[in-house]
Amino acid sequence: MCIKICIVSTKGGVGKTTLTANLGGILADLGQRVLLIDADPQPTLSTYYEVREESPSGISELIAKSQVGDCFSRTVIDNLDLIYSNDPEGRLADWILHDPIGRIRLKQNLDHDLFKERYDIVLIDTQGAVGPLQDAAVCAADFLVSPIPPEILSAREFVRGTCAMIERLKPMSYMGAPIGPLKGLIYRQDRTVDARFIADELRSESFLPSKGAMDILDTTVPASVAYREAATHRMPVHRYETKRRGASPCAAEVMLELVKELFPHLHPVEGMAAETQAQEVPHRSEAP
Ligand SMILES: Nc1ncnc2c1ncn2[C@@H]1O[C@H](COP(=O)(O)OP(=O)(O)OP(=O)(O)O)[C@@H](O)[C@H]1O
Ligand SMILES: [Mg+2]
Repeated sequence: MCIKICIVSTKGGVGKTTLTANLGGILADLGQRVLLIDADPQPTLSTYYEVREESPSGISELIAKSQVGDCFSRTVIDNLDLIYSNDPEGRLADWILHDPIGRIRLKQNLDHDLFKERYDIVLIDTQGAVGPLQDAAVCAADFLVSPIPPEILSAREFVRGTCAMIERLKPMSYMGAPIGPLKGLIYRQDRTVDARFIADELRSESFLPSKGAMDILDTTVPASVAYREAATHRMPVHRYETKRRGASPCAAEVMLELVKELFPHLHPVEGMAAETQAQEVPHRSEAP
């Protein structure tokens, strides 16, 4: 079984790429065979980790030419591969718009046996704006994860933009692409009263337009400089911050909680935790 997850939000800068990279990193260290797909024309995920072996093709060939064989790049992290973004001018979006089944091409191509044979989990990062490429990524996924910084503008955009986008795409089920459930993740939460208030509101029944097809995860990812520093050092944050002074949990604990909640079938994650590699990290500042 190969599970496909799309990290999505109609708002930019909420933490999609950081979350995709770190989820991929910890899942790979837990022994899962993981593929990252960069579906953002700004190729941030493509350069997040060092690439050990670069493939001749990327996402453009995968979607527009159905070239599934030669688009897998290997990162320096074992078990973690990448399909890089090679569409800086956004031509892929035009191509998808003008192809009669453009929005489900990615889904069809990911259903190829090669993906099932090679990967346990596929994580698709998207751009923070509505568009055909984002639609294609949403249609390809079994479920969706949306990071929501608990501040009022992001919370409103989640309800107005991201939830509305899911509603708009629901008719795609008639083309064989039912839209997977949406899981909101309270992300980059700081210690202000306002952030706590918005997080509580997001978890309350009244805030979300309809329950059932979407819910807010119990795990919360705090705001911490460790995520930025880990990105600077091009390493997964669970390797970077393995312990921490103070009351709040370190990044390794947070990421493990998230994995447990998103992938309960990966039981027993506890045992696997010991296998996550704490690495010698470069100079690190104490997170706030
Ligand atoms: N948990 C965190 N705590 C503090 N800062 C974070 C955290 N996660 C990510 N960041 C920072 O937030 C900023 C935005 O993150 P990121 O680029 O992942 O967002 P994005 O949603 O992918 O943006 P875009 O829509 O532009 O693609 C980055 O500077 C990143 O380092
Ligand atoms: Mg991004």
